[in-house]
Amino acid sequence: MSDYEFAAIEPPEVGPLRRALLHPELPLDAMMSLGDTHHAARHIGAFKDGVLVAIGTIHPQPMPAGTPLGAWRMRDVAVEHGHRGKGLGALLVERLLEHASDNQGTVAWATVRQTAAGFFERCGFQKIDAPFVDPQEGSQYLMHTPIKPLQKSWEL
Ligand SMILES: CC(C)(COP(=O)(O)OP(=O)(O)OC[C@H]1O[C@@H](n2cnc3c(N)ncnc32)[C@H](O)[C@@H]1OP(=O)(O)O)[C@@H](O)C(=O)NCCC(=O)NCCS
Repeated sequence: MSDYEFAAIEPPEVGPLRRALLHPELPLDAMMSLGDTHHAARHIGAFKDGVLVAIGTIHPQPMPAGTPLGAWRMRDVAVEHGHRGKGLGALLVERLLEHASDNQGTVAWATVRQTAAGFFERCGFQKIDAPFVDPQEGSQYLMHTPIKPLQKSWEL
């Protein structure tokens, strides 16, 4: 894992990997959503030899049917194929949660593909209710996790 460097990145930088790993059926200019440019949003990338190989985003957004206060939405966590299974995804999630914690976040939520639900459970998220079908994304779980005050020893 020491081969990888983590850094805060700008919204346009996440587009190509989002498209390649999550939405190859959509054009690049469909990759951005409103929350991406929220002033408190954080996009984190993991780089190997200067190449972006993993991404994740978190921004404030009320949770559906949940508290409007302190809720952050985690989105589009994705790791390039050759770099999966090494703990990168979990480290991204941890760092995104730390950013929300630093900004008075109390709960993080995500809509999660069924294939990734086990990963988010390993990262401390819990499913809320049965899966629902999103017309674009297919079968999804709404998942959430409390955000704990964290102590960190690094800065991006
Ligand atoms: C899901 C994804 C981000 C996981 O990234 P990763 O770097 O391979 O995950 P990690 O190596 O950090 O795995 C952390 C833990 O989750 C487990 N895990 C990883 N992917 C999993 C999956 N799909 N289902 C169940 N468990 C999974 C790992 O075994 C590991 O468990 P451990 O702590 O017991 O060893 C990656 O597979 C991916 O990019 N998938 C395609 C994009 C996607 O679907 N993103 C989610 C959108 S909702």
